This record gives sequence, structure tokens and C-alpha cells, in this order.
Amino acid sequence: MAKHDKNKVIIVGCGPGLKAYIHPKAIYNIKKADVLVGSRRLLKLFPRVGAEKIVLEKNYTVLVNRIADWRGAKQVVVLVSGDPCFFSYTKMIVKKIGRQACAIIPGISSIQLAFAAIGESWDDACFISLHGRDIEYAQLIKKVRSFEKVGILTDQQNTPSVIARRLLDGGIRKRNLFVCENLSLPDERILEVSLAAAVNIKANGAAVVIIKKL
Ligand SMILES: C[S@@+](CC[C@H](N)C(=O)[O-])C[C@H]1O[C@@H](n2cnc3c(N)ncnc32)[C@H](O)[C@@H]1O
Repeated sequence: MAKHDKNKVIIVGCGPGLKAYIHPKAIYNIKKADVLVGSRRLLKLFPRVGAEKIVLEKNYTVLVNRIADWRGAKQVVVLVSGDPCFFSYTKMIVKKIGRQACAIIPGISSIQLAFAAIGESWDDACFISLHGRDIEYAQLIKKVRSFEKVGILTDQQNTPSVIARRLLDGGIRKRNLFVCENLSLPDERILEVSLAAAVNIKANGAAVVIIKKL
């Protein structure tokens, strides 16, 4: 971005965790921020950026109004994990201020990195997020029946083990489950197991699960 336009809120995808995965264009924009909004973990990646730092926690709704108020007067940069257009806060910001008022810088999604880690294409996959969502597991089962591969964002309730148990209870068989945990970070773990074996996996951090037809 050659010229800074404070009328635009910049939403930056910060990738899966490792700073080296953040695009130089994203870093350039982060350094120009007057207000930097993001989770504690993402803000910690930029200790030397002198912007006012605002922690994004469960204050999504209040903060989206503040972002709208700052726009025009201050250069607001919002940090999100992975890619901004894949299950993220971006949707709420765009809904509030409109797409013309946003500049979105893509990031590497955890899903992309997970597929790269297991050496599989994702152009024939289907995706679902169980992160902070009360979804009907019937919806997941339907997708697993219809697609060769399903990529799933998980959370502390919907762990690989819980997902495996729900799929087995739903009558799913002949699938392997990949667990891609803490991608790009020192404690990264990639496992490939049968659905039955996955029931015993102990979760250990952020994870993408990929279900693949055998
Ligand atoms: C709110 S969603 C954000 C997804 C993000 N926009 C993306 O493109 O990756 C958070 C979920 O992404 C996944 N995730 C994020 N970072 C990860 C990592 N380093 N390793 C594995 N999964 C990760 C986990 O399923 C986590 O619960």
C-alpha cells in the first residue's frame, strides 16, 4: 500500500503463529498503525510498534464500534490469526463499516498450513469451523459423507477426540483423521490415525483436524 488512507481500516492476516509467515506488506502496514488491535498473543509479536495497543478478547462487539469511531481520525490496524477471510473477526468489521472502508491483507491460514503439512491438496476439500460454535454435529457428518476431505477448525470443547467420537456415533467409518496441532510453533505435532484411535488423543493446543476418506 503506497499511501496511507486513515479512512480504511487495515485488517492483517498474521498467519498460524510463526512471525516469519507474516507477509512483508503486512509488517509494513502494522508499523504505520496509530491503533493496533489484536489478541494478546498477536500484539506480543510487535513489541517495538509504538501504536496504541488494544487487546481483542471477548469485547468483539464493543470494539467493532470503537474501530468505526476511530476510522478517519486514526490509522487502525486489526491483527487476526491465519487468513482474515477465513472464519475471522473480519466478517463483523466488514458488516459494520462496509467493504470499501476495509483494506484486507491476506495471511497463511492454519488450514493451508495443515494441508501442506500432510502433503494433500485442499482444492477438493470442504471446510467447517467448530471454533466457539455450537454447530449441529449432523452438519459435520453430512459434509464428511459428501466430501473426500474435510478440514475442521477445532476448539477446547470440540477436540480431535470429541470429533472422532461424534463421527463414529454418527455411523462414519473408513476415514483417517489427521491432527495438525500448534502449526509453525515449536510444539507442532502432526498425527495420522484411524477414527477409532483418534478417540484416545489428548489435545495439546490449537488444532486443525482433517478427515480423509480411505
Ligand atoms: C478463530 S479460528 C481462526 C482461523 C484463522 N482465520 C485461519 O485462517 O487459520 C482459530 C482456529 O484456527 C486454528 N488454528 C489457528 N492457529 C493454529 C495453529 N498454529 N495450529 C493449528 N491450528 C490453528 C484452530 O482450529 C483455532 O481454534
